[in-house]
Amino acid sequence: MSYSANLRLDVGQETELPVFIGSEGERALDIDKLRAGTGLVTLDESFGNTASCRSAITYLHGEKGILRYRGYPIEELAEKSRFVEVAYLLMYGDLPTSGQLEDFSSILNSSSLIHEDMRHFFLAFPNNAHPMSLLTTMVASLSAFYPVPENPSDEDEAQIIANLVSQVRTIAAFSYKKFIGEPVVYPSYKLRFVENFLNMMFSSPVSNYQQDQDIVKAIEAFLIVHADHEQNCSTSAVRIAGSSLANVYAVISAGISALWGRRHGGANQEVIAMLKTIQHSGDDGRLFLEAAKSKKTRLMGFGHRIYKTFDPRALIMKKLCHRILGKPGMSDPMFDIAMRLEEAALSDDYFLSRNLYPNVDFYSGLILKAAGIPFDMFTVLFAIGRTPGWLAHWREMRHDAGNRIARPRQIYIGPGLRSYIPVGTREKHSVGVMRRTSTKISRIPEKYLDHPDPGDEAPESV
Ligand code: CMC
Repeated sequence: MSYSANLRLDVGQETELPVFIGSEGERALDIDKLRAGTGLVTLDESFGNTASCRSAITYLHGEKGILRYRGYPIEELAEKSRFVEVAYLLMYGDLPTSGQLEDFSSILNSSSLIHEDMRHFFLAFPNNAHPMSLLTTMVASLSAFYPVPENPSDEDEAQIIANLVSQVRTIAAFSYKKFIGEPVVYPSYKLRFVENFLNMMFSSPVSNYQQDQDIVKAIEAFLIVHADHEQNCSTSAVRIAGSSLANVYAVISAGISALWGRRHGGANQEVIAMLKTIQHSGDDGRLFLEAAKSKKTRLMGFGHRIYKTFDPRALIMKKLCHRILGKPGMSDPMFDIAMRLEEAALSDDYFLSRNLYPNVDFYSGLILKAAGIPFDMFTVLFAIGRTPGWLAHWREMRHDAGNRIARPRQIYIGPGLRSYIPVGTREKHSVGVMRRTSTKISRIPEKYLDHPDPGDEAPESV
């Protein structure tokens, strides 16, 4: 059955627009012919109400707190699956058979080394460079070492996917070694994906890393819950860059760059900064909530563009915190602060009336901290997890025969037609650039910060 909607304009025009219905009943007005029929475009700043594509990868219901990859609930995958299996699922649509999993693991293993010449690049970075800056640069550099044919065959595509899933992890660990000034540890065929990463991070020529299976499982779950999240900021960046048919390594690098920001993947780092500053200030969190309510800062790890209830990933992360931090010798006072903050926020009308609930980042940083992952690597871990999702979207797009270059329109709000004035005869005048007032994310109040970001507006103190 097909549906349509009638649009009546005040100029007496009427037009019929088809309604597209997704497999879970989501309805979307198809405006493809709107401009041709009426001269109108739609205005939807920040894409709050725009479906930019049809995708069969991930289903998300923000009001019900549902997240499924290819139909499988995230809770089940996080509990029972392995990251490599989930990567395969996202990419190819079904959970792998044991033979398929073996083949996939084997190509990941054989693709895990980066070209040895690339190691020299690491030396050229300053020692204190943020690992995300190394990651985004190095991933773009892969394009020079692993040329991509103009029309990749299925085998080429499988190799590209394996390179990226595996090498993002290797580059991440090498970046950390650069950061702390230790020699890199190479990946090993004998270790599984997560163990391999932890070994590359924490082994050194003088000591072997002892794997703790609870930590391995927790990192596995962390990567799984981050593996895809439909058209978020970085995935949209990947789709937009990929739609120009740019080199896939550059495309994934664009995703990594978009992820870095604190409104997106960078939030997991900000949450720990927030909890730390609350802990050190002696505030029980109330001052911070008040600052968030008066817009002097934001409660990091709270709120989401799509979820208007609990982010299901946050619930998984919280459960894992209980499991890991409940182990003898593993407790973390920041977890207690986080739970108190959550409780206080969820009894406050400011947060309830705006449907602001904990998102994945509220508890995920505590898991990483417990695993010994350094603060500056948090967003890098998110990137390792998200790489299969970005690639699945890139792959879905390139196999979609109707795919065109992404090219949104805009509504121009600048000056009207003007004539050029030679420089000496110009009068001093101010340029009337119109600015839209926007809600800016102010950071954690300065007095709470160990290292205020010089690039940000100094927030008022609370
Ligand atoms: N603390 C205090 N107030 C908030 C918060 C927050 N964390 N988030 C939103 N609000 C308020 C905001 O001030 C606005 O209030 P008002 O209606 O009075 O102007 C209202 O809620 C709606 O906010 P918005 O900025 O229009 O919401 P958005 O959908 O554009 O932003 C968000 C979503 C995630 C960027 C935002 O909630 C936020 O900045 N949260 C903190 C950062 C964070 O945790 N990010 C991780 C997101 S989940 C992981 C990922 O996908 O990368």
